Amino acid sequence: MHKEATLVIIKPDGLIKSLTGNILSRLSEAKLKIIAAKIVRVTVELADKHYNHLKGEPFYPELAKYITGVLHGENRVMALVYYGENAISGVRNLAGATNPEQADPVSIRGAYGRILTTGLFENVIHASSSLDESEREIKLWFSPDELTVDIYETEEVILENAKKESWK
Ligand code: PPS
Repeated sequence: MHKEATLVIIKPDGLIKSLTGNILSRLSEAKLKIIAAKIVRVTVELADKHYNHLKGEPFYPELAKYITGVLHGENRVMALVYYGENAISGVRNLAGATNPEQADPVSIRGAYGRILTTGLFENVIHASSSLDESEREIKLWFSPDELTVDIYETEEVILENAKKESWK
């Protein structure tokens, strides 16, 4: 048994259908720690980076529209990092199969997901598939100071002439 981190994204359909609470309750069954969480507006750039291995797939344009909120008129998603023993498989088991039609009916995707007429899996949540992917995805979605446990090595960089939005 070893501790690992995994990224969960509650997609726009999850937010629009008010499923956030239900999904978080279901995920609590994995007995993991939430070590980071935020609501994110997903840009096309972030979508492209997140799904970089799928850019050649026929369903990619629809998938990009889905995660950036164009399909639901809702560009917010909730991103969370879960941490603990076997976090990746624990969360994937509760999430169910990627294809909602093949997912166990009591899993999150089985209960709340569907397949659109375009063939797109509207499967409510994303969950990292491997240790390499979880590290890549967590580093893409979160900065080091947003994680409450130091799981990856960091370095200090000095930024000169960098612009940053701040409170007036
Ligand atoms: S997996 O299960 O995450 O390992 O799958 P992977 O092949 O890496 O990612 C596929 C993502 O594309 C979404 N998607 C589809 N895949 C296949 N076929 C169709 N029609 C399709 N529509 C959408 C699928 O949901 C995976 O994204 P996430 O966010 O992981 O669910």
